[in-house]
Amino acid sequence: MDAGLDGLEGVVAAATVLSDVDGAAGRLVIRGHTVEALAQGWTFEDTLALLWEGFFPEPLTRPAERLGAARSEVFAHVAALDDRQLAGDPVDAMRALIARIADGQDLSTAYRLAASPAVFAAAVVRRRRGEAAIAPDPNLGHAADTLRMITGAPASAARIAALQAYLVTVIDHGLNASTFAARVVASTQAGLASSVLAGLSALKGPLHGGAPGPIIEMLDGISAPGNARAWIEAALERGDRLMGFGHRVYRVRDPRADALKSAVAALIAAEGAGAGRLALAEAVETAALAILREHKPGRSLDTNVELYTALLLEALAFPPAIFTGVFAMGRVAGWIAHAREQALGGRLIRPQSVYVGPPVTRPLIPA
Ligand code: ACO
Repeated sequence: MDAGLDGLEGVVAAATVLSDVDGAAGRLVIRGHTVEALAQGWTFEDTLALLWEGFFPEPLTRPAERLGAARSEVFAHVAALDDRQLAGDPVDAMRALIARIADGQDLSTAYRLAASPAVFAAAVVRRRRGEAAIAPDPNLGHAADTLRMITGAPASAARIAALQAYLVTVIDHGLNASTFAARVVASTQAGLASSVLAGLSALKGPLHGGAPGPIIEMLDGISAPGNARAWIEAALERGDRLMGFGHRVYRVRDPRADALKSAVAALIAAEGAGAGRLALAEAVETAALAILREHKPGRSLDTNVELYTALLLEALAFPPAIFTGVFAMGRVAGWIAHAREQALGGRLIRPQSVYVGPPVTRPLIPA
């Protein structure tokens, strides 16, 4: 297939003020701030306000208060979770709950949607364990309340800081597959709920936001640093892709990998547990990069965001089945910002296709 059509690689499909992914330099800028700076202390709510500013008629004041109130509001939908949804993929259950939120373009709808992945992921985790869902506390910060809704107990400052760093690090990332899907829907002037559902559906796949769960399986399968090379070589021999490596845009290390590695190292230092798992991940990373260089000498395959995402979310005791849902907790703010930017200033996204099917062989009008 023509390179221009092959996954749209290199095609510019939007102009945005929201984020810039420099794949050659390994740099991510989010509305004028590097991701490293944001990850070192910005709250999720303040970063959400940074992204949303100017896209709604009203100013983005008191984002923490409004997001807290929205968490309480959407919690009512949790009662609709049924056993069939709980038995399936947690992202599907979250999608079914988010689909209950009315479409709209206004700021209240935006806050409800931004609150929903956290509230619904926490509820799905607990209900799958046979426990009752815990109602939000609107007075807590988003990261603190998310952790409390899962465990039922207040989270430590170190845990809150680690989740905060994660949510901020993944909040936006140029025209990735889920954000593009959200913008396509927004370009038809459908509402924000429709865009968020499109984004979540695109995020689910293992080539995008579904990678961290399988990374835990890889680390468990390798189990000790000395096994890394043999395990990875066998996986590549089978034709598998190594989860957590490679990227469509980055030709060097994904800057988010180091932001998250710092966050997980800080959490491990604060808790005094998990150093062995970090050492295993580092050994796997070193072996994988060396083997990928041998395996694909013409292609620069480096560490992406997902390796240390998996480690961080595991250290925070999220079950791997919900990792993609936790990704959505952060990225939802970016989807909404992009959807508003597209709806306000963009035209309908409607590319063309080249017909490569069979030629017409029969008369168009039957005799
Ligand atoms: N392991 C082994 N080989 C790889 C990997 C990998 N992780 N990534 C790319 N390759 C190989 C491909 O097989 C391909 O080889 P080929 O030309 O012989 O077919 C070559 O490198 C080029 O890869 P592309 O498919 O062109 O890369 P693309 O830009 O389409 O894919 C992607 C990027 C999907 C992220 C890919 O690197 C991948 O599958 N990685 C593993 C999954 C993963 O970690 N996903 C999370 C990405 S980050 C995010 O979305 C949040």
